[in-house]
Amino acid sequence: MTTTRAPHVDEADALDDEGAIGDGDPADDGAPVTDLPAAMASALDGMDVPTAIRTRRTIRKWTDRPVAPEVVNELLECALWAPSACNMQLWDFVVITDHETRQRLGPAVPHADTAQIVIFICYNSRFSQGSYANIQSAAAAVMNMLLRAHSLGLGGFWQATITDRTLLREIIEMPPDVEVLSTTLFGYPDEAPGAPARRDPSHLIHWQKYDLTKKPILPSAWRPTHWTLAQVADYHQARIRAGPRYNKPIPSEYRAVRGYLGHALRRAGVDAAGKVVVDLLPCTGLYLEAMAAEVPKATLSFVELGTQVADFVHRRMPRPAAFHAYAIEGEGVPSDVPSASADAATVVFRLENLPPDERRRLLREAYRVLKPGGTLVVAHMNVRSYFEVFRWIRWALGRRDVQYALHADPSLGPFEALAPEAVDGLVHEAGFRIEHRHGAFPMPPPDEARHRVRALSRRMVPLARWLGLVHDLSRPLHSVLAPFNRIRFLTAVK
Ligand SMILES: Cc1cc2nc3c(=O)[nH]c(=O)nc-3n(C[C@H](O)[C@H](O)[C@H](O)COP(=O)(O)O)c2cc1C
Repeated sequence: MTTTRAPHVDEADALDDEGAIGDGDPADDGAPVTDLPAAMASALDGMDVPTAIRTRRTIRKWTDRPVAPEVVNELLECALWAPSACNMQLWDFVVITDHETRQRLGPAVPHADTAQIVIFICYNSRFSQGSYANIQSAAAAVMNMLLRAHSLGLGGFWQATITDRTLLREIIEMPPDVEVLSTTLFGYPDEAPGAPARRDPSHLIHWQKYDLTKKPILPSAWRPTHWTLAQVADYHQARIRAGPRYNKPIPSEYRAVRGYLGHALRRAGVDAAGKVVVDLLPCTGLYLEAMAAEVPKATLSFVELGTQVADFVHRRMPRPAAFHAYAIEGEGVPSDVPSASADAATVVFRLENLPPDERRRLLREAYRVLKPGGTLVVAHMNVRSYFEVFRWIRWALGRRDVQYALHADPSLGPFEALAPEAVDGLVHEAGFRIEHRHGAFPMPPPDEARHRVRALSRRMVPLARWLGLVHDLSRPLHSVLAPFNRIRFLTAVK
């Protein structure tokens, strides 16, 4: 049995009015002693700090195994040993172990109903927030808990998302001047996720001064004209870093794009042994994976900007697809895909990501790798659609940030919806003849309406129902409204 001298946080009198523990040296504050169960003691011995840091993973699925109160206390004690600004320890911890409360929290805090333990770290908004001291202190406490949880065989989850703060306040009876800064969830893991890739340190670490020549610091502008291809490559990595769970598209969009790709590729006769399809810059690989099911007999390959992204694509593919690196700069051909070797090439929501010259370079590459008579399939976002209207509303609401990985559709990072005639022009310029044009979504379908309205502001959520209704009622007009389709598809021939 191991014992540690520490504040026993379950006891109401452990925290004084200021939320601080004792008056002086925390080691001398006469706080109660916490007994750690034997199993905890051995786990404690078993993991050193570097191992804990490197092997900890975010766990989002837990078993039903309860977490012993001593273990919960141990986590909280570790939180309280974290550094805090001026050692003021102006935090509060609301610990939810009760099953019924966790179920009620489900609609307000994702995963609260499936974790065994939910801990909210709160801060009184009257206390100084200068230098982000509150946030920094809370973050230190969270990190201590996550590492300690991992060393004890528990899985922890640091979750920023709170879906309904009002409901959360009601359930935990939080006073109006207190804010939840952070949510952590714990339980015994029911999954063993691999380590999501980390960025290349040479892109991130500056020695002695902020080195502006370092590549690639991601621009804060959404128009791809402000981006280099190297930066787009780094952005593609950012998109896959958080894992496939963030790359879920809006279901209606996924069905439409997958449907068109399957249709166009089968029409081009590539669903046969020996036929080769090259997906150009698939990024998350979502649609390459879909193509594997749509044209099961074809041989698939893809061209991407970096190996991290390629590995991610490989992992999600149900069957092998050869990866070819796409050169970020240089005069020669951009990839080692042999000329005139492919029967079809696909470019799905990628022209929008690229600076204008790179759009041309990508389509020239498609032309080069295709056999004479080979088929190019392009999907792109139409600038003359409600997509642009939502972007402008977002802008008007002051939401002018560049959106990165946490978004369900391809309108991320550098992403510029394009005019139909501009895309047609680029495809012609590369040497193709356009054979077929198609489109989808002159109005947002109900699932997309919900998604877009929620992304604007929670207060607008009721609007989504009306938009969905307009979509359904205007169905007979959809063909007339085709010029305003959000997504356009092209099939072109070399
Ligand atoms: C401040 C912060 C907030 C986070 N919020 C969420 C969240 O709301 N939802 C989620 O699924 N993951 C969230 N995460 C977990 C990250 O996605 C995760 O740490 C990251 O993908 C790296 O994986 P790893 O923790 O396994 O190394 C958050 C992490 C941090 C540090």
